[in-house]
Amino acid sequence: MEQYFIKGGSPLVGNVEISGAKNSALGILAAAIMCDETVTIRNLPDVNDIRVFLNAIKSIGAMVVYPDPENRHVVKINGRNIRNHKVDNEYIRKIRASYYLIGAMLGKYKEAGVALPGGCNIGVRPIDQHQKGFKALGAEVHIDKGMIYTKAEHLTGGYIYLDVVSVGATINIMLAASMAEGTTVIENVAKEPHVVDVAQFLNQMGADIKGAGTDRIKINGVKKFKAADHEIIPDQIEAGTFLCMAAATRGDVTITHVIPKHLESILAKLKEMGAEIHENGDEVRIAVTKRLKPTTIKTMPHPGFPTDMQSQFAVCLALADGSSTVAEKIFENRFKYTDELTKMGASMKVEGTTAFISGVDHLTGAIVTASDLRAGAALVIAGLSAEGVTCVEEIQYIQRGYENFAEKIRGLGGYIQKIDVEDLFERERIMRRMEFSGSLVQPPMERRRIPAE
Ligand code: EPZ
Repeated sequence: MEQYFIKGGSPLVGNVEISGAKNSALGILAAAIMCDETVTIRNLPDVNDIRVFLNAIKSIGAMVVYPDPENRHVVKINGRNIRNHKVDNEYIRKIRASYYLIGAMLGKYKEAGVALPGGCNIGVRPIDQHQKGFKALGAEVHIDKGMIYTKAEHLTGGYIYLDVVSVGATINIMLAASMAEGTTVIENVAKEPHVVDVAQFLNQMGADIKGAGTDRIKINGVKKFKAADHEIIPDQIEAGTFLCMAAATRGDVTITHVIPKHLESILAKLKEMGAEIHENGDEVRIAVTKRLKPTTIKTMPHPGFPTDMQSQFAVCLALADGSSTVAEKIFENRFKYTDELTKMGASMKVEGTTAFISGVDHLTGAIVTASDLRAGAALVIAGLSAEGVTCVEEIQYIQRGYENFAEKIRGLGGYIQKIDVEDLFERERIMRRMEFSGSLVQPPMERRRIPAE
């Protein structure tokens, strides 16, 4: 598997363009197959999860075309020729958001069968709220041999009060209800920007959804969708990740093509920690010239502090001038990265769902392993701030959700390259060479499977 080799110590400086939001795109691609006319989706992030999802909908008969094969940020989709309402292939088992196909196909075809992905590295991640919503619409739901099946003679509007604020359940129930007969009200819903983006796309196709972004969504079902053309919102988590990269390396970075309103909780925290923040239209500039201040973080549903940003902030707090706490209130197992940061000299301990962090003067390079998408991004941030060279293993997690991650970092003056080096001694040799060389190193010839990126 490939690794990132990172030589730390240089402040990141310059501009970086943020890609489309992965977690919005996944819901929107599921919604797209509900339309029997061609929809155009723009600002699609070109990341592994999206490619896998597109392969999955193609495998059941959807038309998926890139108008310009060179540009994978624009795709046209038409669900007219879908014949198979059961999706069970290796594509689908790789990503969690495949469960959006249940809501989409239940809404359109009144039946669906989708393979459920395994557990995730950040927690159990049940789907009981999704099932509760489908049942409230009149569907029967059962799980058999790793597949979830839903079917309804008539899908009729209902009233659902979510026991847990869930992004996935909110989007999934909204998909199904958008084509149910009558009115559906969903209370205690997620309010993330990507929930609003999916609702806006559905409405562009002719759905009748009101209240997305508030605690209550009201949906009047419609019979058919029509063609639409939608641009996906910028990824608030990618934006936050690059802001933390700048903060941890005491850099000066402008992130472009963002919606500052979506970053409010992230920007507020960075200001508390002493970062200078300048907003200007769809750009945000961050400059950090002195050691960051400690703070407390508690992850909450939007508009609270996003759970997908806690690991990246923990790296910044590991370098802050004092003690901080990070309380993870959304998932039960999202601190695996702390063991890896400890190998780099961080001083942090986890008790229950809270990490207690004592800032240290600097981190040092090490061989570390990514356990999930955001933890992997956090380890790259740590490597960029550390003295010496870091090797991040299992970077396939990172590639699920960050487009051209290494190129974007190099564009800011970061020293990172992706190499596929199988054995540990080779990795250590490359790290040593990178430590003392001024240029990017070449992987060993005999084992070069991919050109050094
Ligand atoms: C989405 O996951 C995101 N993934 C996650 O981002 C993100 O961390 C999460 O929302 C919270 O913002 C996608 O959008 C593809 P939830 P989701 O349902 O929908 C519990 C990333 O890094 N719950 O909002 O699966 C659940 O266990 C990923 O991009 C139930 O109990 O999250 C969790 O404790 C990681 N029953 C809480 O709700 C359910 O039926 C929030 O989960 C559903 C969820």
